[in-house]
Amino acid sequence: MTAAPARLRLVRPDDAHLHLRDGVAMASVLPATARVFARAIVMPNLKPGVTTVAAATAYRDRIRAALPDGADFTPMMTLYLTDTTSSDEIARAKASGFIAACKYYPAGATTNSAQGVTAIDRAFAALAAMEREGLVLCVHGEVTDPDVDVFDRERVFVERHLARVVAAFPALKIVFEHATTREAVQFVEGAGPNVAATITPQHLLYSRNAMLAGFVRPHLFCLPILKREAHRLALVAAATSGSPKFFLGTDSAPHARGAKEAACGCAGCYSAPAALPLYAQAFEDDGALDRLEAFASLHAAAFYGWPRNTGTVTLVRDDWTVPASLAFGDGDAIVPLAGGESLRWRVEAP
Ligand code: DOR
Ligand code: ZN
Repeated sequence: MTAAPARLRLVRPDDAHLHLRDGVAMASVLPATARVFARAIVMPNLKPGVTTVAAATAYRDRIRAALPDGADFTPMMTLYLTDTTSSDEIARAKASGFIAACKYYPAGATTNSAQGVTAIDRAFAALAAMEREGLVLCVHGEVTDPDVDVFDRERVFVERHLARVVAAFPALKIVFEHATTREAVQFVEGAGPNVAATITPQHLLYSRNAMLAGFVRPHLFCLPILKREAHRLALVAAATSGSPKFFLGTDSAPHARGAKEAACGCAGCYSAPAALPLYAQAFEDDGALDRLEAFASLHAAAFYGWPRNTGTVTLVRDDWTVPASLAFGDGDAIVPLAGGESLRWRVEAP
């Protein structure tokens, strides 16, 4: 007789950083998240961006309409900050009750960021209103200067801009999204309790060697780009530290297979189908499985001021293979993160 597989029951987790897209693409990726996560911070980088409360309301309605029957999932919406976001729009966002944050994209930094802020000072009136209203700022922390090497863009953002924003708005709640460097981790650790960070599964599990050594693996290309091993180790230490400043944000960012395997391939890892098992693997590798629940299910809720989720999910220690390809949108295919690979933990069917 074989022993029953190990099981790990967690409070249902929240995904504090998620791209759902829209239309048929959204309908094909939403079930993977809604099956496991109770809530998600939904990023606003549609085309055009979700820059107004009216647009966020309509987007939320479309997400809710696309949910599978019986799904228990709450989308927490974000507004896309631009050079012209007004204090009035911020006040309306807060009053909505379902807009949790505004997302700062430096113009040109990543997918659909052309409407982003062209110089952070241009968003200062909006940031002041957010600080007043108690709306969270989610930061894509990379400079876009062509002179700055792609691998240095996060570190330079932390040095040039982040400290200044934190000093100018000391009560503003800030989430440094998808931290990828030791410098970002150190900054967040040294800041007050109003500054936190999300960490993705790919940045916990892979260094840039996994993406670039020998062959280029486009499905590991995301922004901020994977960094060298020393940074990955700093992220693992932060995620498994038990500090409430670090929490789960997958940055699951679906792009069709053809848009990734291309001469000019898009940035983004579609991690939703295997996200929680991937985090479990990273925590287990570090001997920290007992800290997974706080990272995945408690810290984001505490930071955002949400009630703790009431349901649970169960991880079972049971090898399974992530599908190498899945259907996406209107007849396209998509390659999930770790597609074709065997993982040690799977989420038990609810
Ligand atoms: O890799 C990324 N993909 N980084 C981002 O910041 C955006 C995202 C996307 O929307 O595809
Ligand atoms: Zn993102």
